[in-house]
Amino acid sequence: MRPHARSMGLALFLVTVATILVLAQMYSVMVGINYIIAADLDKVNLIAGALLVIALSLNLVKVLEGLIMARLNNQLSVALRRDLLSRVHRLELSEHTRQVSGEWVSRILFEADRFQKFFTGKLLEIAKSALWITGVGVFLLLVNPLITLPVLAIVPILGIISYRWTNRLRGQFQSQRAEWDKVVGFLSDRLEGLTDIRAFGQEAATLAEFEALCERYRRVHTGLSIKRAALTSFMEVWGFVAVAMVMLVGGLEFLGAGAHTPAAVFKGATSMMPMTWMLAGTNKMMATMGMASGAALSAGALSAFVLFVKRLLNPVRDIAHEAAELADVRVSAGRILDILELPEERREGRQLPLLDGRIEFDRVSFEYEEGRPVLRDIRLTIEAGQHVAFVGPTGAGKTSLMNLLSRFYEPVSGSVRIDGQDLREVSVISLRKQVAVVPQEAMLFEGTLLENLRLGRPEATDAEVIDAATRIGADDVLARLPNGYRTPVGARGSRLSVGERQLVALVRAFLGDPRIVILDEAVSSVDTATRHAVMSAMRGLLTGRTALLVAHHLDLVQDVDQVVVVEGGRIVERGRPEALIAAGGRFSSLWRIHQSGELSGPPAAGTPRAAKP
Ligand SMILES: Nc1ncnc2c1ncn2[C@@H]1O[C@H](COP(=O)(O)OP(=O)(O)O)[C@@H](O)[C@H]1O
Ligand SMILES: [Mg+2]
Repeated sequence: MRPHARSMGLALFLVTVATILVLAQMYSVMVGINYIIAADLDKVNLIAGALLVIALSLNLVKVLEGLIMARLNNQLSVALRRDLLSRVHRLELSEHTRQVSGEWVSRILFEADRFQKFFTGKLLEIAKSALWITGVGVFLLLVNPLITLPVLAIVPILGIISYRWTNRLRGQFQSQRAEWDKVVGFLSDRLEGLTDIRAFGQEAATLAEFEALCERYRRVHTGLSIKRAALTSFMEVWGFVAVAMVMLVGGLEFLGAGAHTPAAVFKGATSMMPMTWMLAGTNKMMATMGMASGAALSAGALSAFVLFVKRLLNPVRDIAHEAAELADVRVSAGRILDILELPEERREGRQLPLLDGRIEFDRVSFEYEEGRPVLRDIRLTIEAGQHVAFVGPTGAGKTSLMNLLSRFYEPVSGSVRIDGQDLREVSVISLRKQVAVVPQEAMLFEGTLLENLRLGRPEATDAEVIDAATRIGADDVLARLPNGYRTPVGARGSRLSVGERQLVALVRAFLGDPRIVILDEAVSSVDTATRHAVMSAMRGLLTGRTALLVAHHLDLVQDVDQVVVVEGGRIVERGRPEALIAAGGRFSSLWRIHQSGELSGPPAAGTPRAAKP
């Protein structure tokens, strides 16, 4: 923040310089006109030269200020966006299921931008306007208080009006943002599911829904724009009212009608003050300004008033405008702070040493939503190095159980322990380094196959990656892709088949040499031949590691140490596979179905290249 503060200070300094230059400009014009009337051509030349220098310096100052602010802007927006994304990385996983990614995009990009632009741009703008009002106000007061005072009286009135006006706008800014979120959220969500929308012929319906959302946003937005424009032009009108007032009062003054008004007295008094003296220069200068000629106001001063009174009121208008912006920014800030207030995953904790891999679920219950238990009273011990298969119907809670083990979620009651350590107390980073999950749906990122594989261990060399793929038995499939390991996988891996993506996830997992491996239906979409190749390769890879296999295909189950049957969030059966088959319970009936399917059913063909639903 230090360099930012320095830039900000520098910008403020430049704004002050600019204000002083503007005051000098006003003064020169005023004096210049009087010289013209007095036909003092030398002095007029001098003033013209001065005006030129002032104009050039003013421009220079503005350019410098622009440069500083642009740099500051960029630095701040990078920092803010980075912080927000890092924050999103640490949120509890449940937050991500609650919000579509487009809404994060909207906040990280747009809100952060607005927020930061306000702090660099608008805040300075407000400071500038305030400085301006003070400077010009004092200047005009010194030249002629009688004309200035009524104009100055307008300032607070306008201020109050615009403050109340913009306060009322805030609610509308909020609903504008909510509408905008819906537009962005809808767009990103539906773009991800583009294939399905087209497959089901839902283009028209999607378009209609999108249009309706855009239309709703437009309505709120237009309403707001009109109100803001109305406020600005209302202020503008007052600027001209002020000019008219100056014309009237100043004209009277100029014609001498006000020679004995309090203003004249005030002028007499102020002419003795050092500030007035400085402004006016010398008594001779006062004479030049026409003050001694009997008129209450010099021609120069009157012209200066008419020319510059708007300089007094425009900043008020600008502040009103920025105040509307302020309402907007308060909404942005609120939405950014919302992110900061979301529950964060607890990441800190004891660093795990190299694990043996003994896992205990001790009376674990879990739910995603309150009152809807997904896992109930799970008690299970898995010895280090054991391989355990989890089977059961869809929605039984198998994946949820795995989620607890990699601490994506925490149990509602009971505890999960690895090597006797409660997962609540360990550092998640150190945990996830040793627990590899191969999910059912692996996420791939835009880039080459190699880059995607390397996610498991960023520092792995190409050779190491390919070696890992070979040991897993995935090399045959992956090397056959059009450009081998350099094949671009497309957005979200959409150029690979689901089965190919699953292989990528497998390689990723083993690259990191994990102590505990979770395979959540990891090869469910791989064709039978490849699956067999992978599974036989896996046998070697899994020795010495604890493995949890959520199995869809029971052929993976045959040589595990333990089978756990999960139904409705409970463990309903458990034991060695052959014992369970012999016992004739749930597993044995599943096994019989599996056996008859293997014998009569056609072998699973390669999977279609469909995008993830
Ligand atoms: N993020 C979530 N939020 C709410 N409910 C969920 C979430 N994920 C899964 N569920 C619910 O939890 C139950 C168990 O799901 P899951 O563990 O994925 O089952 P399985 O892997 O055995 O098919 C299901 O009823 C599912 O609808
Ligand atoms: Mg599952």
